[in-house]
Formats: sequence, structure tokens, C-alpha cells
Amino acid sequence: MTTSSAVKAVTAVKAVKAATKAVLFHELGGPEVLQVEDVPLAGPGPGEVLFRVEAIGLNRAEALFRAGRYYYQPTLPGSRLGYEAAGVVERVGEGVTEFSPGDAVMSVPAFDFGVHGVYAERAVLPAESLVRRPEGADAVTSAAMWLTYSTAYGGMVETGGLAPGDHVVITAASSGVGTAAIRTALRIGAVPIAVTRGEAKRERLLELGAAHVISAGSEDLVKEVKRITGGRGAELAFDAVGGPGFAAVGDALVPGGTAVIYGTLDRRPVELSMNWPLAVHGYSNGAHSRDAAYRRRSAAFIGSGLASGALAPVIAETFDGLERVTDAHRLMDSSTFTGKIVVTV
Ligand SMILES: NC(=O)c1ccc[n+]([C@@H]2O[C@H](COP(=O)([O-])OP(=O)(O)OC[C@H]3O[C@@H](n4cnc5c(N)ncnc54)[C@H](OP(=O)(O)O)[C@@H]3O)[C@@H](O)[C@H]2O)c1
Repeated sequence: MTTSSAVKAVTAVKAVKAATKAVLFHELGGPEVLQVEDVPLAGPGPGEVLFRVEAIGLNRAEALFRAGRYYYQPTLPGSRLGYEAAGVVERVGEGVTEFSPGDAVMSVPAFDFGVHGVYAERAVLPAESLVRRPEGADAVTSAAMWLTYSTAYGGMVETGGLAPGDHVVITAASSGVGTAAIRTALRIGAVPIAVTRGEAKRERLLELGAAHVISAGSEDLVKEVKRITGGRGAELAFDAVGGPGFAAVGDALVPGGTAVIYGTLDRRPVELSMNWPLAVHGYSNGAHSRDAAYRRRSAAFIGSGLASGALAPVIAETFDGLERVTDAHRLMDSSTFTGKIVVTV
């Protein structure tokens, strides 16, 4: 072998090593646009961490992004996908002191998932987009914990001021975040009132600890909340839906109550309640999670809740293998599940 062909061979070996399987999409559409492909693995650069992915937690945000209906758009062709994963650190870049190879970590969604998407066998993220996995938590549990519970904690407790004895109206209560919100409310000593569109998930929501379930498709939300609260109204609403229905969510509160909106599952314009005074906050986990102190408080709440058994992810279904991501997205699009969908890698 000549020197130049030997160099080429070494370069080729390096190129093969510096690749990973990842989910990409080249056009907007349904679950079928998702493809598992070999992609180059650059880094970790300064301040970054390379980790091996063991499990991925799915979020509605990813189905919306894939379909071009999220609040920012993918760069096509070749967009990545995925906010939430649990794995093990393989290498750290220059300047990273808080993680070492072998550490069990989970991602915190404070990044552009079209670029850094964690639907992959290996992923590189800025160090501040990772936290240590809770003591003893396995990969599936960890992949399903952060976005659900830190959103429920941050949105209801820190932003919404949820206090023991309060009634809280939780819309889209069967969702990943909604199921975490039910358990978070119970941990605080509040009374969770779960809202679902139909009847199919009523029993499951009661099993999960909802004190009351309202089927928005067939029951009057305001009347039901007033009945449950002895005519007063609830102190807090934690709303993932928005749209024209947001007016009724506000009407169901005590005067001076608080509504925290964190999602717009109904993309129609939001209609405001005139049940004033009323405080309305928009909550963003991505923005809050950029703050190290917030990450520590969320991690402490989640860790202590897991350790005591008060908090645990509600896993709707686990799919084995990255190539099952299309099936996992089909389930997400069906909206027939309760809790969090996970893909193991
Ligand atoms: N701001 C933040 O930081 C933040 C963080 C996490 C999630 N989010 C947002 O929160 C929302 C929920 O996310 P997720 O991942 O927890 O959801 P998910 O697990 O996919 O659950 C969605 C559930 O919401 C209910 N729903 C109510 N109205 C709906 C509608 N118009 N279209 C579809 N589903 C509807 C459905 O349950 P029923 O059939 O029982 O009604 C559905 O199963 C999304 O909008 C997401 O982008 C925001």
C-alpha cells in the first residue's frame, strides 16, 4: 500500500467510526416521512457532550414539527428530530467539567431539535442541555421524565403558584405532560380536575389519581368545575389546548385565579375569558431550562418524587428499536394513548 492509499484507508475508518444512525425527514408529512439513516457524527466540540442514546421519549412537539405545524420550521431536506433521550456519556468536549464518560444522563430540551435531534443511536448536545439521570432510574423512566415533570412542576408550581388545597383544571390530561400534572398536583396536596375530549380515557385518568374527570365533548366545563368547587371555581388552570375553548377555562376559575397556557393543540386563535381579574401566563420549558438554577430545582423535585414513589412516568407504550419510530409516531397521531410513548434504542 502506498503512503497516500494508507492515509485514505485510515481516513475512511475514521469516517465510518464518526457516523451514527439517526432519524431524518426530507419533506413534511405523516409518520411515513421519518427514515433511519447513517449520518456523520461531528464532535463533541468545546462545551459539548457525546452520549449513546438508550431510550427516547416522544413529544407532541415532534409530530407537529414533522408536519410543519410547530412554532418553528425544519430546514429541509435532512431535518433531525427529537427533544428527549436518556443515555450514557461517551466523550466530553473541551471545557466540559460537569460530565465524564460513563455518566448516565438525560436531555433537557433547550436546543433546536431540527439540528441536534436526539432520535439517534448517538447524539451530541451542549452540556447545559443535559442533566444527570435521577438516582437508580432506568433509561425508559429517564427518557419519559424531564419534559413531562419539569413542565408540570415549572408551569403549575413555580409559574402558577399551585398550593395545597387548590383545585387545578388540567386540560389534555391524558397527554404526557397532563399525566405528570395530575401526579404533581397530588404531590403538592392540590386537587387535580382532569379534562379529556371524549369518554374513552375517563377510567384511566381516575386510576392515575385525577380527583374528577370532565369530558369536554359532552359536559359543560364551567358548570362542572363550579359544581366540583362548591360554586367558587378553581384557583389554577394548566392548559395545553388554547383556541376558543380557552375562554371557558378562564371562566371556570375563581376571580383573581391564574391560567398557565403551555400548548396550543387547538391552533385556532385563543379566546380570552373576561372573568377578571385573571392572570394569564405563557410557560416555556425550553426557556426556563436554559437557567441552571431552574434545572437544579426541577431535578430536585423530580428526584425526590421518584425516590418517594409519588412521581413516576406514565408509559403508554414502548417500541423497541429506532426503526419503530414510524409506528410510535402513528400511535401519537392517533391520540388514543394515555401518558408517554417511548422508543428504546
Ligand atoms: N410550553 C412547553 O414548555 C411545553 C412542554 C411540553 C409540551 N408542550 C405542548 O403541550 C402539548 C401537549 O404535549 P404532549 O407531548 O404532552 O402531548 P401528547 O402526549 O401527545 O398528548 C396529546 C393529547 O392531548 C389531547 N388533546 C386535546 N386537544 C387536542 C387537539 N386539538 N389535538 C390533539 N390532541 C388534543 C388528546 O387527549 P384527549 O383525546 O384525551 O383529549 C391527546 O391525546 C403540545 O401542544 C406540546 O407542544 C409545551
